[in-house]
Amino acid sequence: MISKPKGTLDFLPDDAFKRQHIEKRLREIASLFNYKEIRTPTFEKTELFKRGIGEETDIVSKEMYSFHDSEFTLKPEMTAPVIRSYIENSLYNVAPVTKLYYISNMYRHERPQAGRYREFSQFGAEVIGSNEYIADVELISLGVFFLKSFGLNDLKIKINNIGNLEERAEYIKDLKDYLLKYSVDLSEDSKRRLEKNPLRILDSKNPNDIKILENAPVINEYLGNENKQHFENVLNGLKSLGIDYVTDYKLVRGLDYYTSTTFEIVSDSLGAQNAVLGGGRYDKLIEQLDGKPTPAIGFACGIERLTLVLEASTYEFPEEQSPQLYIVTSGDEARKKAVEISYRLRENGIYCELDLLNRSVKSQMKEANKYKAKYVAVIGEDEIKTNEVKIKRMNDGSESGIKLDEITNYNFN
Ligand code: HAM
Repeated sequence: MISKPKGTLDFLPDDAFKRQHIEKRLREIASLFNYKEIRTPTFEKTELFKRGIGEETDIVSKEMYSFHDSEFTLKPEMTAPVIRSYIENSLYNVAPVTKLYYISNMYRHERPQAGRYREFSQFGAEVIGSNEYIADVELISLGVFFLKSFGLNDLKIKINNIGNLEERAEYIKDLKDYLLKYSVDLSEDSKRRLEKNPLRILDSKNPNDIKILENAPVINEYLGNENKQHFENVLNGLKSLGIDYVTDYKLVRGLDYYTSTTFEIVSDSLGAQNAVLGGGRYDKLIEQLDGKPTPAIGFACGIERLTLVLEASTYEFPEEQSPQLYIVTSGDEARKKAVEISYRLRENGIYCELDLLNRSVKSQMKEANKYKAKYVAVIGEDEIKTNEVKIKRMNDGSESGIKLDEITNYNFN
């Protein structure tokens, strides 16, 4: 038997229905905040991700699904593609601020585990064109609003400001000097990162690294006035919306394009892969991708992780709608008629079902019950002859008759 590729998921109907429910809510909330949907190709030029995300990041250095000629890569994230599209389609000419959202599949060649897949999907939002703190507050509040709409009130919002490129360069220099003193004790991963990407060491889950980091310099002390003020304004803005957060000066995130604000929303019910949502400012990315200098901020929420959190919470997914009518048939003529009738009912927006297996009346009734059909109509030889059919309401057993040809006029509500 051929099985699905490692790290991928099948969405069987019950799971797909949950996904539809989440996506419907996402779209409703995105439009409350006036974000417009954007869709981009499943694959892009590999160069876009190398320049956008950064060559030394985990994503680009080891997780990309690049085709054998390496020119193209399945998208591991959406921010670089959105910005590519923003520049290519001159969206800056349409409005000074562009607010976009997406729901799309992403691909990363990671070691699969609970909450970490090789194909997964993200809901993301990007605000392009404003460096005002208010854009940060509105964007973060969109993510929080969405999660709270599912009754998830105990998620932790971590927030930081990682400075501009100059502030960060100063910080990295001092961080590296500090870590060099302990380099023999650092984990192998961190030792390797010390040269290429020391900031990533702040993310280490190794207990010894964590201990060493306790007394390391913190980025907050390297922020200039502008970013300090920006950070404070964002925090006050969140406070004024009643959004609780914790500042986390080690939150640097794994993509190189970030500047200034970074944030993550984590859940205790997720285990090691505990980030449900992550994002931040990327004020330099647009010029890095050959656009005009334009500030921007965004986030992405992993929809599979969100589903895991919801399943572990008290949230009740709605039940799928049941058929308004199940047509039970007996005999060839009746079946022929039932196909016609069901088609006409569906044309009139009535959700109905009929037997496709020529089963006994008894097993069709059983199936009607299984589907929790609201009404059942039994069509046999008599009904065909008299052109009359009884419609039975299943919750109280009451019956009323109607002409078969006029069944579309029946009120099935
Ligand atoms: P990211 O932190 O790489 O950021 O991913 C965002 C979210 O996607 C994570 O918090 C997680 O929920 C989900 N996710 C990531 N990798 C996986 C995986 N292998 N399996 C399942 N879920 C996963 C970004 O992608 C940025 N583009 C976010 C952003 C938008 N920043 C600015 N704008």
